[in-house]
Amino acid sequence: MKKPLTSIGIINCLLLIIIACGEDTTFNNDIDNEFEVDIFTEREWAVIQRLSPLPIEPPPSHTNRFADNPDAAILGQKFFFDERFSKDGTVACSTCHSPFYGFADAEATSLGAGRGTRNAPTLLNVAYNKWQFWDGRADTLWSQALIALEGDTEQAGTRLQFAHLINEYYKSEYIKVFGEFPNLTDTNKFPKDGKPGDQQYDNMAEKDKVSINTVFANIGKAIEAYERLLISRNAPFDKYVAGDRNAIGEEAKRGLKTFIGKGVCILCHDNPNFTDNEFHNLGVPQGQLSTDTGRYDGIKQLIDNPFNGGGIYSDEPTVSQRIIDFLEPTSLHQGQFKTPTLRNVALTAPYFHTGGFPTLASVIEFNNAGGVPSGFVGTREGTLEPLHLTVQEAEELVEFLLTLTGELPAEYLLRKPILP
Ligand code: HEC
Ligand code: HEC
Repeated sequence: MKKPLTSIGIINCLLLIIIACGEDTTFNNDIDNEFEVDIFTEREWAVIQRLSPLPIEPPPSHTNRFADNPDAAILGQKFFFDERFSKDGTVACSTCHSPFYGFADAEATSLGAGRGTRNAPTLLNVAYNKWQFWDGRADTLWSQALIALEGDTEQAGTRLQFAHLINEYYKSEYIKVFGEFPNLTDTNKFPKDGKPGDQQYDNMAEKDKVSINTVFANIGKAIEAYERLLISRNAPFDKYVAGDRNAIGEEAKRGLKTFIGKGVCILCHDNPNFTDNEFHNLGVPQGQLSTDTGRYDGIKQLIDNPFNGGGIYSDEPTVSQRIIDFLEPTSLHQGQFKTPTLRNVALTAPYFHTGGFPTLASVIEFNNAGGVPSGFVGTREGTLEPLHLTVQEAEELVEFLLTLTGELPAEYLLRKPILP
């Protein structure tokens, strides 16, 4: 749930209190200049240190007991690149999340089995996210994958089709990780194709549905194990914070000052992954796209999803269910979208949930103007006002964002593996 932010003033006061209570910086060993680190005051530096480094390990994935299983990750990488996991055998996760485009694509809205209505986010560091999708309608990575696998505009396949695919090509690898695989020989009991809403699936016996859903969930769990390895750290910005004063240029440093100061970007793009893991209405216009309620419908879909973290396919439902119980769509959620990470943002143009902004400069121009008056759902957040950045300050902000491009994951993770 979103914390109500009444005004920037209050937040700034909070920031000061947090900083004042924070521990002294260990970076500053310049005795002559005790209260400055490079061009930053000690207080500014304490804020900057909140942004780096990215922890080596992503937070644990309690709902998936295979999340850190190396064999599951190897299998998941195969699923990720395997186009047979789609309606017509032409679309894989990698179609829209390509290693060549920072695990996103270059389109405004993605083309899979159909044309989607939102921009594909990067999968680099995706395991650090609390919520998945722009509207947070998935609370785990494994359940996110299931939505893509059956989604009309994504892979548009069916869980029965996928189970038979595993049966044919992946059975021994699957059993090695997950222990057992149902006997699908009787296609009266287990039709070749179908998902909820299709007669073939709906007519199945409940216990057979559970068998198929377990296989389906495990496909997602293997994919999550792979995604958890897509970590990108050690960007020039991180090297700078770690003590290499020349890792980023002077313009970028001034951009960083604006990022945590006059630009108030840090209000939402906080923490080492540059996101508060919350949802906000920036009033990004839908343009030609149909209306999008964002988090409002996202909450409803999360609650209704039998594969959510609190459901029977979750390996640790209690905590997730508690969080879900707390969620209720209200008018406040209308038109809210997730604060995206800014790490590697230079690799993933175009921007915003609509993909309607071609460059980083155009995003900052939008922020600087305090948004636009109409063309979006709900009410724009009250904290968003014109920033009065000069042309130079806006350019420096872009320079700063360019320093957030990290090292890519190991080469073997970027390649399509040999498929069975
Ligand atoms: C047709 C293109 C397409 C395909 C295929 C596709 N995705 Fe996506 N992916 C997207 C788009 C677009 C979004 C954002 C959609 C939204 O927020 O509603 C997205 C969102 C995500 C997210 C959420 C990231 C975040 O930061 O919120 C993850 C994780 C993800 N996809 C993983 C996958 C996996 C795994 C597969 C394969 C099982 C897959 N995707 C298949 C286009 C695609
Ligand atoms: C009130 C919270 C908030 C503030 C303040 C804020 N952002 Fe964002 N930012 C978001 C949200 C939410 C989105 C996604 C909005 C959407 O797509 O509807 C976003 C999107 C972005 C994107 C696009 C990333 C992508 O992958 O599409 C960039 C770049 C960005 N912000 C940079 C900045 C900068 C630079 C500042 C300061 C000038 C800033 N933001 C201030 C919340 C915020």
